[in-house]
Amino acid sequence: MKPAAHLILDQLKKSHVEQEGLRIADLFEQDSGRFDRFSANCGDILFDYSKTGIDAETRGLLFELAAAAGLNEKRKALFDGEIVNVTEGRAVQHMALRSSVDQSVMLEGEDVVPAVLGVRDRMVRFATDVRSGRIAGKGGAFTDIVNIGIGGSDLGPVMATAALAPDHDGPRTHFVSNVDGADILDVLKRVDPAKTLFLVASKTFTTQETMTNAATARAWLVAALGEDAVGDHFAALSTALDKTGAFGIADDRTFGFWDWVGGRYSVWSAIGLSLMIAVGPEKFERFLAGARAVDEHFQTSQMESNVPVLMALVGIWHRNICGYDTHAVLPYDQHLHRFPAYLQQLDMESNGKRIDLNGDEVSTATGPIVWGEPGTNGQHAFYQLIHQGTSVIPADFLIAAHPAEPVGDHHEKLAANAFAQTEALMFGKTVKQVEETLREQGLAADEIARLAPHKVFPGNRPTCTFLYPRLTPFILGQLIALYEHKVFVQGAIWNINSFDQWGVELGKELAGELLPMVKGEKDAEGRSGSTQGLLAAYHAMRNTA
Ligand code: F6P
Repeated sequence: MKPAAHLILDQLKKSHVEQEGLRIADLFEQDSGRFDRFSANCGDILFDYSKTGIDAETRGLLFELAAAAGLNEKRKALFDGEIVNVTEGRAVQHMALRSSVDQSVMLEGEDVVPAVLGVRDRMVRFATDVRSGRIAGKGGAFTDIVNIGIGGSDLGPVMATAALAPDHDGPRTHFVSNVDGADILDVLKRVDPAKTLFLVASKTFTTQETMTNAATARAWLVAALGEDAVGDHFAALSTALDKTGAFGIADDRTFGFWDWVGGRYSVWSAIGLSLMIAVGPEKFERFLAGARAVDEHFQTSQMESNVPVLMALVGIWHRNICGYDTHAVLPYDQHLHRFPAYLQQLDMESNGKRIDLNGDEVSTATGPIVWGEPGTNGQHAFYQLIHQGTSVIPADFLIAAHPAEPVGDHHEKLAANAFAQTEALMFGKTVKQVEETLREQGLAADEIARLAPHKVFPGNRPTCTFLYPRLTPFILGQLIALYEHKVFVQGAIWNINSFDQWGVELGKELAGELLPMVKGEKDAEGRSGSTQGLLAAYHAMRNTA
């Protein structure tokens, strides 16, 4: 972090210490207009951060922190297409993928929008023809689409197709990611080879999991329909156009993108083809438009009303000032059930870094552990810890005003639970309140004394709430882009490269070394004692039925 930013961080820490004992609920007592002052809108999405410990003074300091960290300059460098991914020597321009026809995005002196729109047009034609049955398999119109990819080549489409489930009117979609054969076999059991289209989604077209699954799918298809079916039943989504041909996928079935699109930012590119086929090109366009609106908001809004900046600063407050390690994402929206998993990659692969842009070890904590599950399910699982555990877990709650699928009073109950949780987390329940309740229930004094401590909720646990009209393609595009830019702002403040992912490489390398040992083709000499022991036990178990 830049020295000037560090000084402000120190001031923030001092204010936090001075505020010791001040509770979030007190902030509402002090300011009846707190909700209005500590919430902001990005289009139709309301972001409420009033239930955090941030007050006007600390918010002012957080804005100063962002400015001192060079946020404005860094954002300009990002949108101007400078090489911000310095360790891979690349610009970062996933925003260009959601451009409209009237935009231009210059990269190395060239406008990339015509190429982006060119691929998008081809995707639209392909998706339209697959949906109508004009492009078909050996057995007629495709009934099933199987996207084979992992990480950013899986999580975006998988999350977004689940999120927009009510909008599906195309073929069924399936997603295979894990190299565990169970993943692909479970899908292959359910589909008819003659009516199944495989999309091999891989930026690099070298990822072990994806190439293994693609080879298995190809062999399965060839066994059923013969070698000449491959061309009709496969398409590729990749930047590695040289490798897709070698797999047997023709150029007109290959949808490219570019090295300035990070895997975890690629759902807007050809990687989104499964989503486009599922919901149709018009809705996919609305999805892009939502993200585009956020790009505009992020670039033009003042910090006070800039939702991704506010989201990031709330996170900095919790991570660097309050010292909270994790961040929960709790969608009260069943269709967002993969959103926490998607955000895990977006946030943790981007900001899980310990070396800054100068190559020095960072001096502050960086990205938190991101996790979550949809409400209300989580309430009956891990909320116990959120309410009464020893760790404070800042959480984002997401809820629509209108249900995606209305039935009875389900949605009112869902919303009541979401609002109740954020209130319970903020207020908690004091020992006095607990004792009173127990007295009202007629318990004896010694019983009250015994039970009361267990029933106390410390409260003062921070939450933010996102409220949106309904989960449309546009709103989904907005939500994703809000988190993308939040991650960028935090990376900018921490002065790290949010766009590389070297931390995933070592495991891949070692898996490559270990494979011949697992296969029994090489002995494990020189590996750690534990690995040798595990390999020996593995082989012993494999040799018994
Ligand atoms: O393992 C990490 C990673 O490189 C991600 O960043 C990426 O999204 C994923 O693997 C898949 O990579 P590819 O699209 O090249 O198969």
